[in-house]
Amino acid sequence: MKLAEIYALAINLGMNADPRGRAMVEQELADQARAYAKMSGPQRQFFDRESLINPYADTRIVYGDPQTEISKLIAGIDMQTAELLLARQLNQEGAEIGLALSHHAHGRALLGLPQVMRLQPAAWTKAGLPAKEAEQLMAPRYDEVALGVGGGNYNRTVDAARLLGLPLMCAHTACDNLVSDFIDRLMRQEQPDQAADVLTLLLRLPEIAAAAQDQNPPRLVAGKHGHAAGKIFVDMTGGASPPADYYRLAVAAGISTVICMSAKRDIIDAADEAGLNVVVAGHMACDSIGMNLF
Ligand SMILES: [Fe+2]
Repeated sequence: MKLAEIYALAINLGMNADPRGRAMVEQELADQARAYAKMSGPQRQFFDRESLINPYADTRIVYGDPQTEISKLIAGIDMQTAELLLARQLNQEGAEIGLALSHHAHGRALLGLPQVMRLQPAAWTKAGLPAKEAEQLMAPRYDEVALGVGGGNYNRTVDAARLLGLPLMCAHTACDNLVSDFIDRLMRQEQPDQAADVLTLLLRLPEIAAAAQDQNPPRLVAGKHGHAAGKIFVDMTGGASPPADYYRLAVAAGISTVICMSAKRDIIDAADEAGLNVVVAGHMACDSIGMNLF
């Protein structure tokens, strides 16, 4: 496959599995195109034109000619300078790796995190949270994350790829959509009775079973094993963690259980207070499921 085809595949699969639904994502692309047509001056000059065809700013070819033919790639959750050097070492031994595929984003794809976070209020609204409130809670998080990633050395790995001459692509939200949709469908199909049954179901997935073997099993971090699983929301996509207040509002929206990759203290506390079950399925295991599905 050409690198451009691998990239297009990531976008297409990500859109099919988007929690907002493909139609809403396509609508947003169309709105974006209309807004761009009206732009002028610096706003037009610095506009991210790639966003007219790709709704996931953290899923990008960050180095390499899209027309390059790729017959073999090396994939990882974090492909950084060390892993790029590993690829070079393997190539010196005859591996013929033509692309490094990283789940976590680098360069301008990392700077795209605040943009992809916009899917979160829409996804939570679809699950029953009040739209206006969800959007208001999210608003300060965009700037917070933008300042965080913008202040870091975001081009470090991209520069290493360029110097090594190894194409580098990041597939973040596209793959997180895949795992989120996959686990959502598993839960809808199996209808677990209690929170404990959610854990049992997750352990059926080989990536999560492998983590459990490493003594990092899925965990119930809020709620009780005997609590009803009820309506389940899978919170695994959208760039960065949501505001803890989403977890506070989830119960009023009829949600009983949230399954996420990882959870910070403020989210666990908010969920405990609200009487919500929270299952941490495991960050690396879930990221691996998304990449494996891709
Ligand atoms: Fe991740």
